[in-house]
Amino acid sequence: MSERPPSWKRRAYNVAALRALARRRLPRAIFDFGDGGAEDERTLRRNEAAFEEIRLLPRPLEGAAERDLSLELFGQRLSLPVIIGPTGLSGLFWPDGERAAARAAAAAGTAFCLSHGSVCTLEELAATGVSPRWMQVFVYRDRGLTREFVERAQAAGYDGLVVTVDNQIIGHRERDTRNGFTIPPRFRAADLAAMAIKLPWLLRLGPRLPSLTFANYRRPGQAGDIKALAARMTGMLDPSLSWRDIDWLRGLWTGPLIVKGILHPAEAKGAVERGADGLVVSNHGGRQLDGAAASIEALPAVVAAVEGRVPVLIDGGLRRGGDVVRALALGARACLIGRPQLWGLAVAGEAGVAHVLDIYRREIDRAMGLCGVRDLAGLGPDLILGAEMAPPA
Ligand SMILES: Cc1cc2nc3c(=O)[nH]c(=O)nc-3n(C[C@H](O)[C@H](O)[C@H](O)COP(=O)(O)O)c2cc1C
Repeated sequence: MSERPPSWKRRAYNVAALRALARRRLPRAIFDFGDGGAEDERTLRRNEAAFEEIRLLPRPLEGAAERDLSLELFGQRLSLPVIIGPTGLSGLFWPDGERAAARAAAAAGTAFCLSHGSVCTLEELAATGVSPRWMQVFVYRDRGLTREFVERAQAAGYDGLVVTVDNQIIGHRERDTRNGFTIPPRFRAADLAAMAIKLPWLLRLGPRLPSLTFANYRRPGQAGDIKALAARMTGMLDPSLSWRDIDWLRGLWTGPLIVKGILHPAEAKGAVERGADGLVVSNHGGRQLDGAAASIEALPAVVAAVEGRVPVLIDGGLRRGGDVVRALALGARACLIGRPQLWGLAVAGEAGVAHVLDIYRREIDRAMGLCGVRDLAGLGPDLILGAEMAPPA
């Protein structure tokens, strides 16, 4: 007889239910730090809402009794088209959050992308042996620091380098302002009352908070506390980022170079011409430019501009396996998830992220079966209402 799943798993029957559980378990300022977006959160909401406007045209007579969700990406086989995207400070949601999420990704047969702002070093993450693993970096005023990250990632055997281009000026996340969210988190008297019901989080993370830091930036002889490092990092982001930097990174990094934060088709084309091996259509989960188009709205023009030369990935607002199916039908090769894995971490650490990936896997499989599609190559625009009459590519 199979064992009854733990109660959190039964309650987290989909990603939205998992979010609700995470909300109950996290102090408000921490939940909002992960959940929130920039300014009025229009782009944040739109990322999800835009999927509702994309309707599928199933072809059940194609008969898909069994479905294969696997794909090849940058020469490696993944068992499903959902990848863990880079999220800074995952360690606020669960002790060693990054390593926990990476292990869950590897066990599920998919890739994990480490944020520059992890609480463990990129070498510590690599030491877990998880693969494929990608490293995310920014371009700093001091290009020497960016170079150092790239060289460390190369030495530590990362399989891909993700350069994020939409974060050179930090978006104003107003929930953080309202909540008085600080790094490291400090809690006011009013928060402490609310904290009583978040006791498990406090017991797990409390002892670690004083030493929690952006581990990749720690240097011997320099202030290594998170506050000092956060200020230094933010001041170092270079808004004069340009195409020259993509050329430069292309010259430095020998493996797959993935540019994250593309919405405009001309930027997509330019990045590919400069040697990018992949793109992530992304608005940073609505945390940067409020009013930016939803990722799924921007996807088709980017796919058209790239003309199949490199894989186009997407993130932002994918909360259902059916959203992944829609994105792939519109030309994405795979999808990244940000917040859902943080909610998984908050609820049950590695097991929580494994559960999130399992939810996506089951939902993608079901949606493909209902659409009459046997494998990911079978997902195309003919399955999308409004695009079905388009001539074949
Ligand atoms: C708490 C948090 C931290 C993030 N940190 C980073 C980061 O360090 N680097 C980066 O490129 N993107 C970062 N992102 C953006 C994600 O990689 C991703 O683009 C976004 O979360 C996708 O949208 P979704 O959360 O709707 O899935 C972060 C997102 C969140 C929610």
